[in-house]
Amino acid sequence: MGGSSGIRRSPVRRRRCNQENGLAVPFFKWAGGKNQLIPDFEERFPVELRNGHLDRYVEPFIGGGAVFLYVVQHFPIKESIICDINEELILTYQVIKQDVDPLISLLSGYQEEYDGLDDSGRTSFFYRMRDEMNGERKGFDFSGYGTAWVKRAAQLLFLNRTCFNGLFRVNSKGAFNVPFGRYKNPRIVHPSNLLKVSSLLSHTTILLGDFSISREYINDQTFVYIDPPYRPLSKTSKFTSYSRDGFSEDDQVRLSRFFSELDTTGAKVMLSNSDPKNEDPDDHFFDDLYREFRMERVLAKRMINSVGDKRGEINEIIVMNYHVQNL
Ligand SMILES: C[S@@+](CC[C@H](N)C(=O)[O-])C[C@H]1O[C@@H](n2cnc3c(N)ncnc32)[C@H](O)[C@@H]1O
Repeated sequence: MGGSSGIRRSPVRRRRCNQENGLAVPFFKWAGGKNQLIPDFEERFPVELRNGHLDRYVEPFIGGGAVFLYVVQHFPIKESIICDINEELILTYQVIKQDVDPLISLLSGYQEEYDGLDDSGRTSFFYRMRDEMNGERKGFDFSGYGTAWVKRAAQLLFLNRTCFNGLFRVNSKGAFNVPFGRYKNPRIVHPSNLLKVSSLLSHTTILLGDFSISREYINDQTFVYIDPPYRPLSKTSKFTSYSRDGFSEDDQVRLSRFFSELDTTGAKVMLSNSDPKNEDPDDHFFDDLYREFRMERVLAKRMINSVGDKRGEINEIIVMNYHVQNL
């Protein structure tokens, strides 16, 4: 397929975001969330997604799940497969799928207790929860589902809602180390949203592991959306060649081979990543990796600096193994 690399803004913003429509939205604040790019993606979704010829959806790097939730609520998808290497994240998806009522009860208890505290009480509540969750990590069984998972998911969701910037960040030992966030009235539990997500997950297979394990679920009736960790943008961090998720340049190359392999199955595949040309116009890394496929560039607003919250407009690349038909 011929490559094209023109940059364009979405002319059509047909659909309003899920939340405005009363639909399920991501329950985790997650770095790299794709909510604001959905209109750009939607314009480029394969036509077979609309007419029901693609009824399986696979997302091998699920993160906060913005695109997954959008796709399964707007298109006639019969089953989905989601995957991520982050065990805490996958644990939370499993609990929402299997035990949403006890999860909501626990979170509602946390909400009530937290709301009744003054600032210093809230700070100590947060750090007690963080210490407890980190203390229980060693020896925690992330492979066998059990009742301990419900409490851990509640702790994670609580910390995600109340920590600084809603980040999920762990140190080299896997301990969650984000400080307290001092939000005025954080919404710790959103029962109706969790119930909607739970019902959508009932038709979803949830996998923990490397993206490659999703391969066996992909066939010619599948739409695959791939959103890997970004390749580090800044010139200085480039030399470390690892993203914060530990995803190396070799992994980006391995992923491009995976993309080519999926192409041979007849699946329709879309991938997004940040454009290295934002920093270095001569950096052709992704143009080279995906030269056999169609590539477009769109403008995206996102954090461009992990220190502080410097935001800016930069390009995102979208790679597709199919031609887009404008409707
Ligand atoms: C850019 S985020 C995805 C963001 C997501 N699309 C959203 O809207 O929130 C990338 C995700 O890839 C996961 N990840 C990192 N390495 C992975 C690997 N080798 N296989 C699968 N998932 C991986 C991270 O845990 C992270 O959740």
